[in-house]
Amino acid sequence: MKITILYFSKTGNTEKAAAYIKEGLMEAGNFEIRLMNLNEPSTMDNTFINESDTVIMGTPTYVANMCWQFKKWFDTDWDCQLGGKLGAVFATANAMHGGGDIALQSMITHMLVRGMLTYSSGAGCGRPYIHLGPIGIGVNNGVEERKDFFNLFGKRIGEQSIRLFEK
Ligand SMILES: Cc1cc2nc3c(=O)[nH]c(=O)nc-3n(C[C@H](O)[C@H](O)[C@H](O)COP(=O)(O)O)c2cc1C
Repeated sequence: MKITILYFSKTGNTEKAAAYIKEGLMEAGNFEIRLMNLNEPSTMDNTFINESDTVIMGTPTYVANMCWQFKKWFDTDWDCQLGGKLGAVFATANAMHGGGDIALQSMITHMLVRGMLTYSSGAGCGRPYIHLGPIGIGVNNGVEERKDFFNLFGKRIGEQSIRLFEK
């Protein structure tokens, strides 16, 4: 099964979170996983996205929302057929009340419009609670501090992908 982790990262925080999520996915199953950074066009592969059953998306928080680069991608890149795929979101931010949850919710809204199934691995899945998705907060090591959350999120998304898509 193919899984895409699609993110935007300029200064490396969201990229680090994506790597931790990949670690968690690999605990759950034997997936073919690709990391794609919207900021590095050479990493983008729409064919692989279209072949993926699950697409996890991550954004830095910009002005209490998803970054504009991700919004642009949602608004303009309709080559990707996202309908019916499992979607999940994660974010990074500088500040605790910097709008990370709003960024996640905006991404989820776009996923729903595109016909994706969304899964947060939320509080109903037990402790530690992940609400809309994991958020790494803090300028220096906010993502490292949440490594366990990103790992667990990846593992839960992997397990759910197997439940939904593996025959
Ligand atoms: C234009 C811009 C706007 C930002 N706005 C916010 C914000 O509203 N709230 C917040 O907590 N962090 C904000 N940040 C900080 C980033 O979300 C944070 O540094 C993020 O981890 C960067 O991700 P990256 O290292 O993957 O590029 C902003 C950063 C930039 C460049």
